[in-house]
Amino acid sequence: MSEPVRTTVEDGIAVIEIDNPPVNALSQAVRQGLVEAVQAADADPAINAIMIYGAGRTFIAGADIREFGKPPLPPSLPDVINDIEDVSTPTVCALHGTALGGGLETALGTHYRVALASARFGLPEVNLGILPGAGGTQRLPRIVPIAKAVKMITGGGMIGAKEALELGLIDEIVEGDDVRAAGVAMAKRLVAEGASARPTSARAANTVSAEDFAQMMAMVSKKARGLKAPINCMKAIEAAMTLPFEEGMTRERELFTELFTDPQSPAMIHAFFSEREVAKIPEMKTGTPRDIRKVGVVGGGTMGAGIATSALLAGLDVTLAERDTEAAEKAAATVSSHLAGAVKVGKLAQAKYDAIMGGAFRTTTDYGDFADADLVIEAVFESMEVKKDVFGQLDKICKPGAILASNTSYLNVDDIAAMTSRPQDVIGLHFFSPAHMMRLLEVVVGAKTSPDVVASGFALGKRMKKIAVRSGVCDGFIGNRILNAYARAINGAVLAGASPYDVDRAMQEFGLAMGLFRVADLAGLDIGWANRKRMAETRDPREQYSEFADRICELGRFGRKTGRGFYIHDKDKGELPDDEVLAIIANERADKGIAARDISDQEIIDRYMAAMINEAAKIVGEGIALRPLDVDITLLNGYGFPRWRGGPMHYADAVGLEKILNDIKTFAEEDDYFWQPAPLLEQLVAEGKTFASLNR
Ligand code: CAA
Ligand code: NAI
Repeated sequence: MSEPVRTTVEDGIAVIEIDNPPVNALSQAVRQGLVEAVQAADADPAINAIMIYGAGRTFIAGADIREFGKPPLPPSLPDVINDIEDVSTPTVCALHGTALGGGLETALGTHYRVALASARFGLPEVNLGILPGAGGTQRLPRIVPIAKAVKMITGGGMIGAKEALELGLIDEIVEGDDVRAAGVAMAKRLVAEGASARPTSARAANTVSAEDFAQMMAMVSKKARGLKAPINCMKAIEAAMTLPFEEGMTRERELFTELFTDPQSPAMIHAFFSEREVAKIPEMKTGTPRDIRKVGVVGGGTMGAGIATSALLAGLDVTLAERDTEAAEKAAATVSSHLAGAVKVGKLAQAKYDAIMGGAFRTTTDYGDFADADLVIEAVFESMEVKKDVFGQLDKICKPGAILASNTSYLNVDDIAAMTSRPQDVIGLHFFSPAHMMRLLEVVVGAKTSPDVVASGFALGKRMKKIAVRSGVCDGFIGNRILNAYARAINGAVLAGASPYDVDRAMQEFGLAMGLFRVADLAGLDIGWANRKRMAETRDPREQYSEFADRICELGRFGRKTGRGFYIHDKDKGELPDDEVLAIIANERADKGIAARDISDQEIIDRYMAAMINEAAKIVGEGIALRPLDVDITLLNGYGFPRWRGGPMHYADAVGLEKILNDIKTFAEEDDYFWQPAPLLEQLVAEGKTFASLNR
């Protein structure tokens, strides 16, 4: 392999190129090569300025995450950047693509910065459970205001070149795509002007009052919900404000090490890599995505309108069919308001909005308008009869090769496909509500779905900036099947003595944004009720069925939309616990002869996790999910599972599969029908293996 760092000399400028595809990550060889190249250039009297840039599509995207968790290999990045900053020859960094994490820290360690107009900058370490530990927390506050440093370091997002210039993070923007030329030009100009080295560390840090900082800290803590990294980021920024640079660096190292050795960081790194691994499915090799430009959506309710919005935001042409003109108009208004929301937050340009509403989007009541669609996504009521009817009609109208997709939450995609003469073109595309916001897309592969159609589903997900996960056909697919399992376990805990409010508190303390019952109230209790009624015919008599949710629905209490559900939703006071709900639960306990006992928060979580992991192990064992990591990504992106716990399978490995199996066996003493251990879980325990061993 060629050296990842190369120097050439051009008119007295040492031009240092970093070439470590795909993203120029700061591997040991890059770190070593970079510091040696800079120091050699500094020692050469013929060199008047140094210029550093990245080859390929981007500047440095950060530390090499694949080295994390392994013994450290010198030189360390903080040392490398300090050494670069210390040279007396003026040093320029030319940036394109993304300068992220250690990449941006490297840039901050050089003396001057120029960027292409398309370049973006960020410190995403917090997303990996760590902090910018190579001086980023000390140098950034010496350039940008504290509030901005807090936002960038604790938020982990990116900013564009224009904002970076305004903030003084870069000195110049250059149009075009020749980053090397931009860097050389700036270096030459600096030489001509007689500019000298300008170390960031020598500047005074920006500050805010202790009061203002305490306020920022309070906001960051609230948002962190159990994630430690943002708190340590704040402590490091505080050190930048209050300590000399050297001491600030020492403090940054302490805070970094604390995070680096905590289990939260490996969990988040697992999530990072798994989010990329989920796209690696067999059909990526055997299938070719079909060209999708024109999309039809059937049904413009909650989901149909969201799916149409998502497709429009991805630049596709959309025709949405409803049952009658009134419903079509309502759907059009919903789509328009979703898109207006995207304009408001800067996700969509006003001109694009106008173009969409004036041409790319239309509604209809006639499926005949789908004749030239490349893909039709059905999002009508969750009823097999209605769906079969829709697919029968689509089969007659749509052109050969058109993909016919269902957004069903639970129903059998093979049965739906059987209503057509082209089951190879039928697939499940299961979006999550709100469909234009949620990142998860389950791609449900039927027995006859062709590899091209599967590959098309993944390509569509990517185009919509979603994370697609491959699922086989079963009731509820990966996500909702697991949800049903843990909901049953939680209902069991409620019957045993916990209240819905205990459950929500425990789940929120565990790191979820909302507990199960809050979510149910938000989504509408009628959906689950309809599904339970559908399942009633096939329910096994051995199932310990909890009825309190049905009783609540029978009172017309469907959650937030009716003002009452598990909670009272008060306009002024928010969500309030309700004695009527507690009485319904107490009645059921009395009917069943259950004496309520104290259930600790830990027991609630143990039941929740054991049910989730057990069902997930069944799903992996049956081949519904390709790997354990597919389950993790589903729960992280569709069900609010805390990212810093890495997903249920990662969590299971972390606490030990034996403990999970033992919990299941303990709970089975109360209900041995529900708590049947997954064969795969038993096998892994017997073999002393982990779920992670199945990801490889
Ligand atoms: N280290 C190692 N591998 C990396 C990497 C990194 N920092 N960043 C990306 N990769 C890998 C990906 O895993 C992927 O590999 P495969 O092709 O084998 O799956 C490949 O590079 C391409 O990545 P993407 O598929 O994500 O490509 P993209 O074009 O969609 O996105 C990106 C590019 C914006 C750089 C994105 O990869 C990204 O956000 N990377 C992570 C950036 C990051 O978190 N940097 C901070 C690192 S921590 C740090 O720097 C610590 C410190 O201060 C001391
Ligand atoms: P909804 O009731 O809000 O919308 C359904 C829409 O379909 C209605 O506007 C109705 O007028 C229309 N419709 C019914 N029959 C039609 C037909 N034959 N032709 C054209 N339009 C027709 O329902 P929602 O919530 O949007 O659900 C739709 C589908 O998406 C269901 O299969 C559901 O299971 C699934 N889903 C729902 C989620 C949710 O959170 N609401 C999440 C993921 C999937």
